[in-house]
Amino acid sequence: MPLKRTNPCLLYPVVPLRKYHLIQMLDLLLMPKATHLECSTCNSRYPADAPNNLCTCGSPLLVRYDFSVIRHRWLRRDVSSGPATMWRYGPVLPVSPESIVSLGEGWTPLLRARRLGARIGSESLWVKDEGLNPTASFKARGLSCAVSMCVELGIRKLAIPSAGNAASAMAAYAAAAGLEAHIFMPRDVPQANYIECKAYGAHVTLVDGLISDCGRIVAERGTEEGWFDISTLKEPYRIEGKKTMGYEVAEQMGWELPEAIFYPTGGGVGMIGMWKAFDEMERLGWIGSRRPKMIAVQAEGCQPVVRAFEEDEPYSRFYDGARTIASGLRVPKALGDFLVLNAVRESGGTAIAVSDEEMLGAGAQLASDEGVFAAPEGAACVVAAQKLIANGFLKPADRIVLYNTGSGLKYLEAYSTRFPRTAANEQDKLGGLITPR
Ligand SMILES: Cc1ncc(COP(=O)(O)O)c(C=O)c1O
Ligand SMILES: [Zn+2]
Repeated sequence: MPLKRTNPCLLYPVVPLRKYHLIQMLDLLLMPKATHLECSTCNSRYPADAPNNLCTCGSPLLVRYDFSVIRHRWLRRDVSSGPATMWRYGPVLPVSPESIVSLGEGWTPLLRARRLGARIGSESLWVKDEGLNPTASFKARGLSCAVSMCVELGIRKLAIPSAGNAASAMAAYAAAAGLEAHIFMPRDVPQANYIECKAYGAHVTLVDGLISDCGRIVAERGTEEGWFDISTLKEPYRIEGKKTMGYEVAEQMGWELPEAIFYPTGGGVGMIGMWKAFDEMERLGWIGSRRPKMIAVQAEGCQPVVRAFEEDEPYSRFYDGARTIASGLRVPKALGDFLVLNAVRESGGTAIAVSDEEMLGAGAQLASDEGVFAAPEGAACVVAAQKLIANGFLKPADRIVLYNTGSGLKYLEAYSTRFPRTAANEQDKLGGLITPR
């Protein structure tokens, strides 16, 4: 039996329940769920209520809903009375309320960054701080949704190849749901990712290679072991969780999308998800047809999407010798690269690469200017924004949202190259004065 974990009533804010809330909760329970899964390339259809990975043509599947029904039953003004998590967008997520596995993901702050904005030439700079999610990264959104769907579909053994943060999130949600987690990640992932996964009780394998090598192992062993493959875009549910970043930014900006969104792009799920969210919101009648310029930010040492964008190619090529401290951006070839490139091109955006040194410098600047200690991936967006304002691609008055996809606290090895502790010996690292010697 799948484990039903969360009472949907608990997902609502702790406020006195009024009749209105009860009616709304009932409506949410009865709201039609996903109608089917649709291939992103050949448009083949698959049932929404059975486990599925890729289409037979090898492309990712996307979850589809009947917006002609939902738009009449879930109004924009209703959203604010939902829970202060990403599940406030429950009617456009594929999970039934009784299967939801939540640790409080989403509804992260959108912060106005005035001091940093002035420094980089922006009059309207905002940071969406995803570092405040459970497991300190935006991966919580995708994995909350994917693990919830596993609960719903009765899947009990999950496997994931990960650059680091997705592994931590999967381990946490699998633990919360009582499911088995098998994790494959590069041997040199940040220490935080390894320790978290072990603490959450996952089966962890460190691989001498990149996320692409980890993915190969999961694909080879998955069927025999009975694992459901939660690789980026090899199942349709992580996108659904991540698309809530798009709903949220619209809601937090009063349903007026910004002029530009900077997104640190590895596998590109967040970018694809937000692009899907904007389309869905238009179908719901919540926003118009204007879109933000979608800007894919990558690392100089691993920039397959930037290269394909500059070469005007629809797909990226495998990026040899991928290397960067921004471990989440160390994805040499993404399955959904063509979807990312589509979003960037259709939106009139661009793709840009940033060096590791620039990321660490911008991370320190963002921290000291605004009090937000960002992952290098998030800090990369600051550098990219500064460059695109300086070269005139964006105007100072444009409303710019930078996605800080994780907390800097998960990258202490990388940041310690910038802030070395000269006096620290091993004992001090364990707690200094309060540790008995
Ligand atoms: C902190 C951080 N930012 C960005 C990314 C890239 O995410 P996506 O796969 O959505 O492009 C990752 C992926 O691991 C990450 O951990
Ligand atoms: Zn297909």
